[in-house]
Amino acid sequence: MELTHIEHIGIAVKSLEEAIPYYENILGLKCYAIEEVADQKVKTAFFKIGQTKIELLESTSPDGTIAGFIEKRGEGIHHIAFATNDVTAALADAEAKGVRLIDKAPRKGAEGLNIAFLHPKSTIGVLTELCEDPNNK
Ligand code: CO
Repeated sequence: MELTHIEHIGIAVKSLEEAIPYYENILGLKCYAIEEVADQKVKTAFFKIGQTKIELLESTSPDGTIAGFIEKRGEGIHHIAFATNDVTAALADAEAKGVRLIDKAPRKGAEGLNIAFLHPKSTIGVLTELCEDPNNK
């Protein structure tokens, strides 16, 4: 597959309200958007550094995947997202090479991106997201 850059790093936090001041006051980044993604049961906060974003993820439900992740592994890095110009092609390529897919086809993520996840069992332990910006085509 052809990846262009690290689109974002997803970080699981218990509370956006508690986490945002660290990124703003200590790291000096600016939170430019807060968005709820209902079907993923998360509220996200975005920061930008260069062309890479930091995506903070707070669960909106005790049975959400982020809540489960924090329960099992604590707060911290949840996933890494790579940008590609063609998520469908990247998925097909990964599947052809025996990678287990979480998403068989792209779906809509935060910021209107087309996204799909590869299973961490196939990615040496790092939940991996592929993102395509439909406005960049
Ligand atoms: Co993400």
